[in-house]
Amino acid sequence: DYVRKLQDISFLESTLSDTLKIGKVVILPGDSDQEDVVKREIGRTAAHILSKLLSDGNKHIVAVSGGTTMAAMAANVSGSQPNTVVVPARGGLGDNVELQANTIATVLAQKLGASYRQLYVPDCVSEDILNSILKEDIGVRAVVDIIKQADILVHGVGRASVMARHRRLGSEVIAKLEADGAVGEAFGQYCALDGRQVYMTNNAGLMLQDLQHIGTIIGIAGGKSKAAAILSVIRASRQDILITDEAAAHEILKMA
Ligand code: G3H
Repeated sequence: DYVRKLQDISFLESTLSDTLKIGKVVILPGDSDQEDVVKREIGRTAAHILSKLLSDGNKHIVAVSGGTTMAAMAANVSGSQPNTVVVPARGGLGDNVELQANTIATVLAQKLGASYRQLYVPDCVSEDILNSILKEDIGVRAVVDIIKQADILVHGVGRASVMARHRRLGSEVIAKLEADGAVGEAFGQYCALDGRQVYMTNNAGLMLQDLQHIGTIIGIAGGKSKAAAILSVIRASRQDILITDEAAAHEILKMA
């Protein structure tokens, strides 16, 4: 029965990889919505894959997003990578501190014996204020330059409605997101199911159009409820490695 299950999962992985045109898909058994251990396993698998990528002897810059799945990854990583620099993919200080990209970057760097940089740019400032921060704060600018050179990006995927409320976006913005069909979110970019980018939080760091310059992009997200979100982000961006769970995978295949 166990062998059968593994065969089913490996079939699901290759089907999803073909359908979504993603080089590597790893699927963990179960549903993260139902059991927290599944999310932890997604994190552990991502940690393992990241450690392997970092072990090639080259210098790497790793950009990370925030969230609970990313926290599960950071908690499970280990190794000695003194040449690696870890940075948050984007600024944003709106989430719970322990789930912010800055915190994930710090935890990950400490576990890896790597160095890290922090990006202190709040969410929800006007474009004018954001531009003057970028113009006048040399420290922020230096970190943004490093972020733009990231060669590995590891990010979570959130449901648009959940993330918008979580980040306390204004009710007009939330209404607009709904009207525009936003279903998924990754590092501040909100995407519709057909892959349109419909909204972006005003912040510094990586944007969807930067992803073409990044060598390896790893998306980590599971749970049946996140299927549409995952599909929207995959269609809006580029994904080299997707680590998800069985429940999300089945649901994505129904929609794709
Ligand atoms: O941007 C995506 C979200 O931060 C994902 O968060 O892994 O806690 O669902 P989560």
